[in-house]
Amino acid sequence: MTVAACEVSPFCCSSFYSSQPAKFKLPAKSSILTVEFGDNIVKASSRADPKTRTTLRSDENCTHGSYGRRGLLFLATTLPFLFPIREYGGDIDVEAKELGSPGYLFMKEEIRKVLSKGKAAGVLRLAFHDAGTFEKGDNSGGMNGSIVYELDRPENKGLKKSLKILEKAKNVVDARESVSWADMIALGGAEAVSICGGPNIQIQLGRLDSMTSDPEGRLPEESFDASGLKQCFKRKGFTTQELVALSGAHTLGSKGFGNPTVFDNSYFKILLEKPWLSSAGMSSMIGLPSDRALVEDDECSRWITKYANDQDIFFEDFKDAYVKLVNSGATWKTV
Ligand code: HEM
Repeated sequence: MTVAACEVSPFCCSSFYSSQPAKFKLPAKSSILTVEFGDNIVKASSRADPKTRTTLRSDENCTHGSYGRRGLLFLATTLPFLFPIREYGGDIDVEAKELGSPGYLFMKEEIRKVLSKGKAAGVLRLAFHDAGTFEKGDNSGGMNGSIVYELDRPENKGLKKSLKILEKAKNVVDARESVSWADMIALGGAEAVSICGGPNIQIQLGRLDSMTSDPEGRLPEESFDASGLKQCFKRKGFTTQELVALSGAHTLGSKGFGNPTVFDNSYFKILLEKPWLSSAGMSSMIGLPSDRALVEDDECSRWITKYANDQDIFFEDFKDAYVKLVNSGATWKTV
């Protein structure tokens, strides 16, 4: 018995797990679930193609295919117990595109066609806001493409355009081989870092998309002090060192940490200077309250100093922390 593929997508129908309808609709091409029970093959899909369309739940916008309501109900209720395929960190036994494989390189190429340095900050932030809903305690949220349902949340303001950028690449990739939003966004963030001069980050592909939004209130707020930030990241399985390394992403964008389109260690160098204490010109505007809070904390400050003094160490640590981030809470295709 195998789950050959499950690329749930936010389109067309309501959720596998809940009745919450999709709010953000983009064309669906990639959503097909195939389960083999001996000789029987059950397919469930949210494709727009009515010939292949079989949904797991009755919905006035969707029609049921030939498998029948009872079979689908069985599938919907038993599948989560039969296939506990959610993984967090560690080794992942999945069907994944090899890092140098034509599929991986094709995705990378298509992302690079739509991504410019000016758009990189938004795409990297998009990756954090998708993955950053992860909570280790109940293993919920995480890198699952659910951001497509969450774009109207205040903390995600401005991210719709970043998703639209990746959508262009996704459509091209989907025409050849379907890809999940989670993979698209995870790779998009990695490429954003790379085109701005940061480390090359290779990530595993094969994530599945959630069909519902993740719980609210899980992303860190800019008003958090260092202890609040540490606790928030700890709940996601991240150490203080990883919190500091990941925060180095704020070197991109317009918060005043050096060139907004260059990924380097200026974030840490500028944090140590504490320019916001100066009354000169725009210096007082530099950084978010949460950035400033990090440098006031002894433990964080030690990491900030390390990264300010050695960009190579920052790049290595950022790479590792980013890979961990985009694997957080991911559910993977199995073979
Ligand atoms: C540590 C806790 C964090 C807080 C409180 C936080 C909060 C914020 C806020 C309030 C902004 C400004 C948004 C705006 O300009 O409207 C921002 C920008 C940004 N964040 Fe974070 N963030 C955090 C961590 C991260 C992490 C871990 C990443 C990625 C790995 C990240 C990536 C970015 C990027 C790239 C931008 C610039 C976006 C742009 O200019 O378009 N942030 N963040």
